[in-house]
Amino acid sequence: MSRKIKALIAKLAAGDGPSCEELTLLISQTDSQIWQEIRLLADSVRAKHVGSDVHLRGLIEFSNHCRANCLYCGLRRENRALVRYRLEPQEIVETALLADQLGYGTVVLQSGEDPFYTKELLAEIIAEIKGRTELAITLSVGERTFDEYALWREKGADRYLLRHETADPALYASLHPKRTLEERVKCLKALRSLGYEVGAGFMVGLPGQTPETLARDLLLLVELDVDMIGIGPFVPNPHTPLAREEGGSFEQTVNMVALTRLLMPTANIPATTAMGSLRPDGREITLKAGANVLMPNVTPKRFRPLYEIYPGKICTDEEAGQCRLCIEGRIKSCGRTVGTGQGASLKYQQRSALHGNHAAGQ
Ligand code: 5AD
Ligand code: SF4
Ligand code: FES
Repeated sequence: MSRKIKALIAKLAAGDGPSCEELTLLISQTDSQIWQEIRLLADSVRAKHVGSDVHLRGLIEFSNHCRANCLYCGLRRENRALVRYRLEPQEIVETALLADQLGYGTVVLQSGEDPFYTKELLAEIIAEIKGRTELAITLSVGERTFDEYALWREKGADRYLLRHETADPALYASLHPKRTLEERVKCLKALRSLGYEVGAGFMVGLPGQTPETLARDLLLLVELDVDMIGIGPFVPNPHTPLAREEGGSFEQTVNMVALTRLLMPTANIPATTAMGSLRPDGREITLKAGANVLMPNVTPKRFRPLYEIYPGKICTDEEAGQCRLCIEGRIKSCGRTVGTGQGASLKYQQRSALHGNHAAGQ
């Protein structure tokens, strides 16, 4: 390991923000010893700042209709090979009640960008879940208007996930027809101003991505000061224009999670489903490299195979109760504990304490 790299790792360990050039240089390294050291460091930073708890989020994939056309995604509008489904509002609420009974403190309501669920309809669903449970509600329904975000927040939505996908504006434009990174960032800022706990994130191994792109991805997370960060490998989907591209590397994705933890010690970082889909022990490896959240699926079994963002997705043949047991075993096998309560990020809790409960947007 060169002196320069050693000094860089020491800088990260000390919590000093690296420059884009420094991060790019680090990400370009292929010596596995370097990454072993960074992963161990990330694990200890995770333990020191957010402890041994792994927070659980019950994931409800309530619609696979999507008006967007992202080149990488199986739910894209132009994929005619996919059978589309929508859960009835009542079934969404019932699934949330099941997540509550299973002991998850949070439900994630996730879908493609589906205008069928209007501002008012989603607001009713949120209000009913909040009225009947103590669950935190995380929305993950894509780019919508400020007014929609505002009403949902008013009705009780707590968090919002909107990955930035890639921080390179040209790559972003080429992967997202008729959309811009600028608009994406605008949405993330709007969500934050409304007091949501906000999540962004990106894919590793997108065609055309370079070490510098990844450095910019990490620095954008720091700049936006997001509370939650979802990172996963790009997995080519045969029913998309990127079918023949190479997929992202598992190892490099774990390395990006580790760097993220070093840059953002108090954020919530999931070991994503895509990590578990590439390797049977992929989520455990990620939990040991800085992650502290898991998102077990609670979607009714009959719909699961249809939420096919990428091929080989895990848990499509299981029921919610099976995932509940499976996930607890995995957490314990890592020597970790199951989080209780809503499990907001320490980052958001500190921000709310500073600015008052509803003014976390400052
Ligand atoms: N491989 C991996 N992740 C993907 N996503 C979409 N398509 C793919 C793919 N082919 C991710 C995006 C999106 C999230 C819901 O899934 O990052 O934000
Ligand atoms: Fe739709 Fe999201 Fe897939 Fe893009 S990534 S096509 S917005 S579901
Ligand atoms: Fe679903 Fe393991 S988490 S089967």
